Amino acid sequence: MTALDLLVRDGLVVTPKGTFRASIGVEDGVIIAIGSSASMPMAERTIDASGLLVFPGIIDEHVHFRDPGLEWKEDFRTGSMAAAAGGVTTVLDMPNTDPPTVDADGFRAKLEAASRKSLVDFGFYAGVVPGRVEELRELAELGVVGVKVYMSETTGIREPVDDLDLIRTMRVASSLGLRVGVHAEDGRTISRLREELRATGQRNPLLHMRARPVEAEVLAVGRALLAARLAGCGLHVFHLSSAAALEVIRALRPLGVDVTVETCPHYLLLDGEDALSRLGNVAKVNPPIRGRADAEALWDAIARGEVDAIGSDHAPHLPHEKMVDDVWSAPSGFPGVETMLPLMLTEVHKGRLSYEKIAALLSENPARIWGLYPRKGSITIGSDGDLTLVDPDAEWVIRADRLHSKSKVTPFEGLRVRGKPVYTVVRGEVVMERGEVVEDARRGQLVRPVRRGER
Ligand code: NCD
Ligand code: ZN
Repeated sequence: MTALDLLVRDGLVVTPKGTFRASIGVEDGVIIAIGSSASMPMAERTIDASGLLVFPGIIDEHVHFRDPGLEWKEDFRTGSMAAAAGGVTTVLDMPNTDPPTVDADGFRAKLEAASRKSLVDFGFYAGVVPGRVEELRELAELGVVGVKVYMSETTGIREPVDDLDLIRTMRVASSLGLRVGVHAEDGRTISRLREELRATGQRNPLLHMRARPVEAEVLAVGRALLAARLAGCGLHVFHLSSAAALEVIRALRPLGVDVTVETCPHYLLLDGEDALSRLGNVAKVNPPIRGRADAEALWDAIARGEVDAIGSDHAPHLPHEKMVDDVWSAPSGFPGVETMLPLMLTEVHKGRLSYEKIAALLSENPARIWGLYPRKGSITIGSDGDLTLVDPDAEWVIRADRLHSKSKVTPFEGLRVRGKPVYTVVRGEVVMERGEVVEDARRGQLVRPVRRGER
């Protein structure tokens, strides 16, 4: 037998189905052996994983790496360094860049930047421009993992998609075997509320919660579900934030909609009023962080299997852009790719989650949802050698100034966490080792989905 490129020896391998002690051998970027350390061939490099957890490479299905076009906020270099530091081996990048990923040229521009700079593997979502839905055919050929639709305006995308465009998008997407993910907040509701509130002359960050209330999310989630039903299209609801929107999904799922749901660490761990009063616009994000009861409902939905994925919504903006007093001029979002896994590991110690559930929500399920499984999201023979090694008991404190992102802000500043990624392995190559990002590692690659029902 030839020598392995990498042997990860005697770790506790975590999968959604269970946890077992094993060694893992990677050759030419692919897992070729799983078993006892005695059964393993020789290896060029060995990592002693005893005492460590070995997860299938963590996938962050929701990042905004701002490249190309908004590189002052982030680029594929710094974004992927943050990913590697946070134990993330694959990122799925959102289309609201400049140019946006809404046609072949936009896709190629992003592919060029990411191929040159990224340390981790990456996939891209297609965005949609009203009236140019046909561009999706070419984007599907180029290898987007899915489609992202903003039902309200957002960073870099001014024109929200209306109901007719949404249905048309879903019809085309479903014929191409692509799932449609939505940012579900009703654009008209929130722009009217914002104008009404702005007219009062108030500028307090807490107004963000009133300008983008739960009602806006409920209306948009309901319409997205109906549109998906009409078009026969798979639907993914990104960053679900409220109990009321969960209820709508529960009520409409029996219509036969293939719907999957993402939430983010901040909706599970923070209280909106508290965060906005303590941190000001640093905690401003869309949808807004809601109240404790909403977080409880999301935890409950995770326990029941109604939430499929956790993504970070890594949405970096520079500190001086965020740290303004005026709620109306502050951008929405904050970085998250580096803190997501540690935050979720900490919840295992609090009894909220299990390691197996983390393997499902942060790796296997996003891989399945976006057609990447079992190449990604799985520790099996033939899968990519993507592994995230974790020291489950390391305690440390989140500090914005230590983040690898250009955006040195986080709503989790000062939080004590327990659980630390210690090795990040992408297709057999170590891109982070004991907290240090390996900057000269081989570059990440585009991941393309196996599309369902391709025709
Ligand atoms: C995102 C961004 O900045 O790109 N911001 C956010 O608050 N989540 C865009 C978005 O998803 O709305
Ligand atoms: Zn969004």
